[in-house]
Amino acid sequence: MKYFSKRQRKLLWKALCISIVITFIVYIFVINYIVQLEEEINLCEFDKHKSNDRIKYIFNLAYWRILIYNEQIFLKENQTLWCNIPNELQLISKTICQIYNIHDCTRLPCRMIYSSPNTLKDVNCTYDGRVFKKNNDSSIQNQPDLTCKMDYSLDLFIKKSSDYSYPSMIVDAFIPLLTYEYKNILNNKYRSCDSIWGMTFNFESISNYPWAADRKKLKLFDVTFGYDRSLYDFIPHPWLYDYIEQIKSTSRRLSMQQAMNNKVPINSIKHSDIYWTNKQMNSSGQNTTANGSYVRSSILWMNSNCNTKSQRTQYMEQLMKYIDVDNYGNCGSNKLPLPEHIIKIRGSNNQNSSDRSSYNWQGVKLALAKDYLFTIAIENSLDFDYITEKLWQPLVAGSVPIYLGAPNIHDWLPCKTDCIIDLNKFKTPKDAAMHIKQVAVNKTLYESYHKWRNEPVSLQFQSMLNYFSTVRNYSLECILCGMSKQVDQNKDPKEYKNKIIKTIRHF
Ligand SMILES: *[C@@H]1O[C@H](CO)[C@@H](O)[C@H](O)[C@H]1NC(C)=O
Ligand SMILES: *[C@@H]1O[C@H](CO)[C@@H](O)[C@H](O)[C@H]1NC(C)=O
Ligand SMILES: *[C@@H]1O[C@H](CO)[C@@H](O)[C@H](O)[C@H]1NC(C)=O
Ligand SMILES: *[C@@H]1O[C@H](CO)[C@@H](O)[C@H](O)[C@H]1NC(C)=O
Ligand SMILES: *[C@@H]1O[C@H](CO)[C@@H](O)[C@H](O)[C@H]1NC(C)=O
Ligand SMILES: *[C@@H]1O[C@H](CO)[C@@H](O)[C@H](O)[C@H]1NC(C)=O
Ligand SMILES: *[C@@H]1O[C@H](CO)[C@@H](O)[C@H](O)[C@H]1NC(C)=O
Ligand SMILES: *[C@@H]1O[C@H](CO)[C@@H](O)[C@H](O)[C@H]1NC(C)=O
Ligand SMILES: *[C@@H]1O[C@H](CO)[C@@H](O)[C@H](O)[C@H]1NC(C)=O
Repeated sequence: MKYFSKRQRKLLWKALCISIVITFIVYIFVINYIVQLEEEINLCEFDKHKSNDRIKYIFNLAYWRILIYNEQIFLKENQTLWCNIPNELQLISKTICQIYNIHDCTRLPCRMIYSSPNTLKDVNCTYDGRVFKKNNDSSIQNQPDLTCKMDYSLDLFIKKSSDYSYPSMIVDAFIPLLTYEYKNILNNKYRSCDSIWGMTFNFESISNYPWAADRKKLKLFDVTFGYDRSLYDFIPHPWLYDYIEQIKSTSRRLSMQQAMNNKVPINSIKHSDIYWTNKQMNSSGQNTTANGSYVRSSILWMNSNCNTKSQRTQYMEQLMKYIDVDNYGNCGSNKLPLPEHIIKIRGSNNQNSSDRSSYNWQGVKLALAKDYLFTIAIENSLDFDYITEKLWQPLVAGSVPIYLGAPNIHDWLPCKTDCIIDLNKFKTPKDAAMHIKQVAVNKTLYESYHKWRNEPVSLQFQSMLNYFSTVRNYSLECILCGMSKQVDQNKDPKEYKNKIIKTIRHF
C-alpha cells in the first residue's frame, strides 16, 4: 500500500529538515538571549576601598511617573522652566524617555535635569535600614545613623570626580521595563559596584503588570519590594495597614454581637425570600428597620472598575439572576443612588471629577458594609497573595465578604474556621447564590461566619501582622542607603539585606 507518492515523500522530508533547522536556530537564539541576560547582571567584586562618609545619592526613577502622570508635567509646566539636555546626559535621558514614551526628548522640565536644594531630599535612616524619626524626647538619640540624598534629576548621573559612583536607583514596575531599556540603563554603563538598585511594585496585581514577575529582570535588582511573597524581598502589603488594629485585637474589632446589631430581617424584593427566618428577632417578616432602612437585599456590591481580568462584572451578572444585590457602583445595570447619610460621609455632593479623589470612599464602604449581611469582594485579578482592601473593609465593618481573588486566600484570613464565602468553592454563580441564600435565611449559620470576632486571630495571621507592623518601619530608600554604605565599608550588601529580612521574620 502506498500512502504517499515519491514527490510527496520528498516534500515531506524537505519540510521536516527545514523545521528541524528552524527549531535549532530559534533554540540557539533563545539560549543566547538567556546567557546574554545572565551576563548583563552586574557581579561586582566588593573590593574597592572608599571613604566611609562621602554622600551617597539615590536616583528615584519612580518619581518620574508621579511627575508625568499625576502632575501631568508635560501639559502644565511653564515652558520657560524647560531646559536643553546636556550632552553627557543624552544617553540616559534618551533611555528613560523611551521608558516613559516621551517622544521629543531634547528638552525636559529643568527640575528633571538639574538637582537643587529644593529637589534633593534627605534620606535619614538607622543603621539597620529603618526610617529615622526625630524623637521629641531629648534623652533619646536624635541623629540619624545614615543619611543619603535622593532626587529624580538626571544630573545625578554626571561623573563629578574619580571617587564618584553612580547613584543607587529606585525603579517602579508600573512602567514596562523592556529588555532594551534594561540593557541600556541597567547594565554597567550607569551602574557601579557601590550603587544599589531597588525595585518597588505595589498597589496593583501582577496580571496587569506581568513584567513585574519576570524573575530574570528581578535578578537585575539588589532589593525588591512587592506584594507577592514568592517573588520579592520585602512585602509591605499597604492595603492592610488601615485595618490592622481593627482586625488584630479582639477589643478593637466588632464582636459578633456588635456585628449582628445592624442586621435585621428583610424581605428580598425580587425573590420574596425572607432573610433570617429568625423567629426571635422579628416574626412579622417585614422588610425594614423602624426608620425605613435603605437596605433592600442581603448583599452589598460596589465596584467602579468594571472591566477586569477577573471578569467580576460578568460573574455578578450571573449571580444576580439568582439572588438580589444592592449595587451602588458603576458596574451592572441595577445601580442604586447612594442614601443621603452615605453621601454626607462621602463628602461633597458635586460630581466634579477632579473632586472624586478627595471623596471619603473608605468611610462610604465601611458605613454601607456595616448594614449588609454580605459584601461582594471580588479582586480585579486572581493572583497569588493579591489581597486588597476589598477583603479587609467588610471584615472590619462586620459584614461577611463574598470573596473571589487570591487562590491562596486561606493563608491570609484571621479566622480559624469560616469568615468569608469563598466563591472559588462553587462550580457556578448559581451554586454560590444558593449557598448564600441558605446562609442568609439561617441566623445560626450566618453567625458562624462571625464567630472569629470573639476569638484571637489564627497564629499564622498573627505572625503575618507582626511582619507587617515591623516592615512598616523600613523603607526601600533606607535599605538602599544602608546597602550602598556597606560597600564603602568593604562589606557585602547582600548580607546586610539578608540580615534585615531575617530580623523582620518573613512569614
Ligand atoms: C513662567 O515663568 C516665568 C519666569 O519665572 C514667569 O515670568 C511667567 O509669568 C510664567 N508664566 C506662567 C504662565 O506662569
Ligand atoms: C513633637 O513636638 C512638636 C512641637 O513641640 C509637636 O508638634 C509634635 O506633635 C511632637 N511630636 C511627637 C511625636 O510627640
Ligand atoms: C535628616 O537629618 C538631619 C540631621 O539630623 C536633619 O538636619 C534633617 O532635617 C533631617 N531631614 C529630614 C527630612 O528629616
Ligand atoms: C417594604 O417593601 C415594599 C416593596 O418594595 C415597599 O413597597 C414598602 O414600602 C416597604 N415597607 C416599608 C415599611 O418600607
Ligand atoms: C418587625 O419589624 C417591623 C418593621 O420594623 C416592626 O414594625 C415590628 O414591630 C417588628 N416586629 C417584632 C415582633 O419585633
Ligand atoms: C436609620 O437606620 C440607619 C441604619 O441602621 C441608621 O444608620 C440611621 O441612623 C437611622 N436614622 C434615623 C433617623 O434613626
Ligand atoms: C469643580 O471643581 C473645581 C476645582 O475644585 C471648582 O473650582 C469648581 O467650582 C467645581 N465645579 C462645580 C460645578 O462644583
Ligand atoms: C441552620 O444552620 C444550622 C447550622 O448549620 C443547622 O444546624 C440548622 O439545621 C439550620 N436550620 C435550618 C432551619 O435549616
Ligand atoms: C515601628 O516604629 C514605631 C515608631 O517609631 C515604634 O513605636 C514601633 O515599636 C516599631 N515597631 C517595630 C515592630 O519595630
